[in-house]
Order: sequence, then structure tokens, then C-alpha cells
Amino acid sequence: MSDIHSFGNPGESRVRHVEMDLTVDFESKKLRGAAALALEPAGRRLILDTRNLTIQRVNGSASAFRLGEAVKHLGAPLEIELAAGTRSVLIEYETSPEASALQWLQPAQTAGKRHPFLFTQSQAIHARSWIPLQDSPGVRVTYSARIQAPAPLTALMSAARVREGHFHLPQPVPPYLIALAVGDLKFHPVSGRCGVWAEPVTLAKAAREFEDVEKMVAAAERLYGPYRWGRYDILVLPPSFPFGGMENPRLTFATPTVIAGDKSLVALVSHELAHSWSGNLVTNAAWRDFWLNEGFTTYIERRIQEEIYGRRRSEMEFAVEVGELETEMKGLPPGDQKLLIDLAGRDPDDGATLVPYVKGALMLRALEEKHGRERFDRFIRGYFDKFAFQSITTEQFLEELERAFPGEDLSRWLNEPGLPPDAPKIRYDFEEAPSRRWATQEWLHWLRSMPENTGAARLAEIDRTLDLTNSGNAEILTAWLLLAIRAGYEPAMPRLEQFLVEVGRRKFVKPLFEALVKTPAGRARAEAIYRKARPGYHPITQSAVDGILAGK
Ligand code: BES
Ligand code: ZN
Repeated sequence: MSDIHSFGNPGESRVRHVEMDLTVDFESKKLRGAAALALEPAGRRLILDTRNLTIQRVNGSASAFRLGEAVKHLGAPLEIELAAGTRSVLIEYETSPEASALQWLQPAQTAGKRHPFLFTQSQAIHARSWIPLQDSPGVRVTYSARIQAPAPLTALMSAARVREGHFHLPQPVPPYLIALAVGDLKFHPVSGRCGVWAEPVTLAKAAREFEDVEKMVAAAERLYGPYRWGRYDILVLPPSFPFGGMENPRLTFATPTVIAGDKSLVALVSHELAHSWSGNLVTNAAWRDFWLNEGFTTYIERRIQEEIYGRRRSEMEFAVEVGELETEMKGLPPGDQKLLIDLAGRDPDDGATLVPYVKGALMLRALEEKHGRERFDRFIRGYFDKFAFQSITTEQFLEELERAFPGEDLSRWLNEPGLPPDAPKIRYDFEEAPSRRWATQEWLHWLRSMPENTGAARLAEIDRTLDLTNSGNAEILTAWLLLAIRAGYEPAMPRLEQFLVEVGRRKFVKPLFEALVKTPAGRARAEAIYRKARPGYHPITQSAVDGILAGK
């Protein structure tokens, strides 16, 4: 199977192991060093993916390679002629300050404000901007690394720390799971195999928020078989991390905005942990099969939450997600409402809507309801065992499904827009009147069902009793600020500006700017805020907001 988002030629020469030796230079915002690639098979030609890399030498020679023209979304192919019998190549290179996988933070952009910070985000096709390799989820590699970082900073990777600065991951993974973070980081153990890494000022509250993590791993193991990665730790990043979480093996990367103080947003940990089965163990072969990663993971996230916090809470969380899916789907072209989407000529990040997540999870829920939990759980468990450490297509999943449940037909889910008429209904009876005991999801349901034309006077009244403008919960605050923008509720605007300058999580930043640009006064405010906020945002969030302000 070939991958339209990679120039790699794994059929001819395939990268199996990557050994990195990199120095982290905060001054020039560059990683510098070398990557040694082991090949099997090794043909006479090797093609790798790169993006904005400066290649200095290949196998000691400054001329034994050809860097092709860059192609939109994909970067540039690196072609290397191999002498007969050559089974490894050594590439000396450095990254560019614009590398799409890297975010270099000034001390002021961290929680502690004293030390710089670097982190990578390789999914979907950004690994090529910091490592020259065959950047397709179908080409799995093991890796080892030596990372030289300035004292007193700590380097962490999605791998075992053999000793300080030295890493090794013996399990073969897709390149999008290779990750690095460097900062003033300290560790707090939660159990024998789980713990939390964070900047010192964040560590204690993070460890408290995530104290159920060992229970989550144990619950997932009961459902889907052994956790195969050794440790499971969580790294809390600075607030500009553009995502909620990223399932880097052994070390989930997480936004600090899930630390609500009451564990109400920890489903994110269940989600990233679930990827240890769906995604990291059994991986989508190409980005068109993304629902295999995220739909399964969203389904398993619900199952883990149910084990730990009960059916009621899990259904409530699911109901909120389905509401979000329905809202988002209204604005999506029909092609993007299918589970199997056509990404030809597009950036795979464009496919990361709620469709693969929530529609995918609903499809699996439909199978569970039809065939019964016991049989369906047995099927999933067998699926993970059979395809462990492999990258598979939707068609391979369907073959396996056919064996277990002959005649099962998912084509309406996979190839038609919208939800099938017989899609499962997720029911939860939300209370009508707000109460201080409400969980985050109840607030979200209430705020999102408020009429579009709710005026500033009504918001002022609500704020007087509930003080939502000062909510420390990023989900509730975002839902509230959206109402405030629409209503022109001025007292919330300083908080809006403070939040947008501090937090770079795309999920919050994007809808807030979208709401702002709908009126001329809002647009002026958006531009003023963005001038302050943009330098602190990750390239992924920057490009989302650039597009909104350019009217795209
Ligand atoms: N793997 C994704 C994040 C991702 C997807 C990064 C596509 C780049 C491209 C991660 O597991 C995820 O889904 N994160 C969610 C949180 C989750 C609880 C829905 C996020 O970041 O919002
Ligand atoms: Zn995910």
C-alpha cells in the first residue's frame, strides 16, 4: 500500500531503525546532528521525506544525495543512491527555525517563566521537519537517540530513558509517534509504572488531577489485553501546546488546560491512553484510515471512563461529544462527513474533524449494541492481538469484521455523509437550572443550548450569580466567551484577551477568533489581540488563525 502523503520508497528500501544524535540549540532555534538509518530491504536507491531540513552530508559525502523541489503540504524528497550491499545511511543535517514539528518557547511562554522550552508534535506529517525518514504511518521504525540539551534542562522522549539524554524505543512505531520535549521538568510518581512530568510550579496539581491514571491503565488492560509499552507517564506542556493531548508512546503529551481541579476533563487521559492499543499498537496505514485510530480510541475512551467513573458520567461525556459532532458536521462539505475521506492534494491535518472521532465511535457503539458487549469486546481484543505492531487499512479491518460477524455492512458509515438514520442515540437527561454541583459537561450543555441572540443584559445577570467570566475551566470559559462575543458583553473582553494571549490550544483559540471576525468591531478587536498572541502560538494554531483573519 502506498501513502499519498509520503515520497518514501519502502517497497525498494525500507527504514527499520533510526538512531539520532542531536544537539538542542535554543539560540538559533535549531536541532543539529545526525540520523543513522538502518534499512531492510536495502535497494540501490532510497527516498526519504524532509521539510525545511538542511542536509550537510550523506555517508560523509556532500554530493551523494539530491534534495528535490518542495511540494505543497509534503516537503521535499531526499534521494540517495546506495552502493550495492549498503544497509545503512548516515545523514548529517540541521533543522530550520520554521520546522513545523518544533515549537521553541521563550521563558516568558512557560509556566515557570525562567527557562526556555522545546517540544515536538510530529502527527500527522511533521516528523519529516526534524528527522529525515520515510514519514508514513505504514513504515514503522524502532529508534534510539542521544539528545544534548543545555543544563539544567531535562530532555524526554517517547521512549525509555536509558540514562540522562539517552533513549531507546524497542517497539516499532510509525514516525508520527517520535517525540521530544526539553524544559525545566520534574517528575511525580503516581504508581509503579505511571507518573507525571511537569514544570515544577505545575507538578503538584497535575499529579493530583491525574491520580487515577493507574486505574485507567488497569481498566484498559482488563478490556483489551496487556499494556505493551512498559511505563505510562503524562507530560504536562506549557499552555501554548496546540492540542489537547498527543499519544506519544510511554509519554502522553497533555495541555495544562485539562487541569480543571476536579478531574472533570480527565477523559483526555483515557483517550490518549486508549491510543496505546488503537493507534500505537494497531495503526492506520495511511491518513485516509485515520478513523481507525481516532474512532476506536474515542470508543475505548468511553469504555475506560465507564469503568472508572461509571456509566452515567461516561454517557454524559459521550452525549456532549455527539452534540459537538452534530454542530460541526453542519458546516462540513459532504465528502468530509464520511469516515473514509479523500485527502488527495490536501494536508492530512485537514481530515482531523470530529467525524473520524465521534462518528467512528458511534459506529463501533452500533456494532456493540447489535452483537452484544461480550462478543464485540472479544472481537476487538482479538483484532488488537492479531494486528499488534502493524499498520492496517480500513479494508483489512473490514475483512476481520466479516470473519467475526458475517454479512456486517458498514458502507453507509464509511462512504456516506451524515449519520445513518439508525445510528445509536446517546441519551442523557440534562438538568435545566444551573447548580454549583454541575459537572463541566453539564455547564457546556447548558451554555451551548442558550439561544444565539442571548443579550448582554442576560449575560450580566448570569455572571453576577455564577461569575463565569472568571472561570478557571478552559472548556466552560470558552463556551461562555463565545456567548459574550456574540452578545457584545464588554465586561468579559479583558478576560478574553488574557485567555487568548495565554492559551494556544487550537480547539479554543479557533472558534473564539471565528466568532470575533463576524462583526467589524469584533474584527478590529481580533486583530489587536492577535498581534499580542500570535508570537506565542504554535505554527499549527498560527496557520488556523491566519486563515480566519485572511477571511478563508
Ligand atoms: N492524536 C490526536 C491528536 C492529533 C490528531 C494531532 C491529528 C495531530 C493530528 C490526539 O489523540 C487527540 O485526539 N487529541 C484530542 C483530545 C481528545 C481527548 C479528543 C485533542 O487534542 O483535542
Ligand atoms: Zn486521539
